[in-house]
Amino acid sequence: MAFSRAEAFAPATVANLGVGFDILGLALEGIGDRAIVDFRDDPGIAITDIHGDGGKLPRESEQNVASVSARAFLDHIGEKRGLNIQLFKGMPLASGLGSSAASAVVAVMALNKLVGEPFSREELLPFCLEGEALVSGYHADNVAPCLLGGIVLVAGITVDDIRPLPVPADFHLALATPDFPVPTNDARAILPADVPLKTLIHQTGKVAQLVDALHRSDLKALGAAMEDDHVIEPARVCLVPMLAEVREAAKRAGAVSVFIGGAGPTLCALCDNAATAEGVAAQMQQVYSKARMDSAARHTRVDLRGATALDIA
Ligand code: HSE
Repeated sequence: MAFSRAEAFAPATVANLGVGFDILGLALEGIGDRAIVDFRDDPGIAITDIHGDGGKLPRESEQNVASVSARAFLDHIGEKRGLNIQLFKGMPLASGLGSSAASAVVAVMALNKLVGEPFSREELLPFCLEGEALVSGYHADNVAPCLLGGIVLVAGITVDDIRPLPVPADFHLALATPDFPVPTNDARAILPADVPLKTLIHQTGKVAQLVDALHRSDLKALGAAMEDDHVIEPARVCLVPMLAEVREAAKRAGAVSVFIGGAGPTLCALCDNAATAEGVAAQMQQVYSKARMDSAARHTRVDLRGATALDIA
């Protein structure tokens, strides 16, 4: 059934999970974006409102991730009508929580609902990637978990490359986001163009250990593998304030391991229960407070539902 207006929610996501650069990602429970879309008489896509971005996101439809993704969808189905998009941002921008992916996914998810849900979630991936590409190139490690939920292996950018991985029952996260935006492109520009063969072997071994640990629900092995990153974290540490201090404080408070969320600067601590995750988040935030840096801290779990179309009240 098609609707005159449709709404959707898309969760925040964390890409990489340490060593799984560009090939692993997970969705976060309880934090994400909403969008409302409806057709309009005039042609073209109008971003009518963006809430929660502090005026920072582009309103021009060719430059906004949500409208570029929506355009790819409309062109694909041959729809000529114009579209209004209202976006409600529920997460900080440029913070390693998949803000651009959420904008892309939430708009496409709402649009799919608007036209009667012709596509499955998986089939929405190519449209969302068009928007994400505007900001940081074609990689699906935020878009895929945002669409599908859970922990996702992203071996490429087609639907066949995307595989859900098991989520251990005791997988909890504490997150601390310093008020220090890191644009993904900057964080990618700083990475080495080549890595030595020995480093490649180390890194692929750790990713394999990580995936194996997920299958065995072995949080200790998982945490150790995530953190043992010889390529990305060493290159990005200069962009992520107080990484060593936050890691130490998180571990003292019981975290299993600490890794950079996506391109940073959010730091994620893997914990094995909710109470520990809550305490760890507070300790991580305290490190920033002592350094007189503003930050947001939260504790959460893996979102298993992914993006969802909502009933309009
Ligand atoms: N895998 C990406 C990166 C995530 O770390 O650069 C950001 O979208």
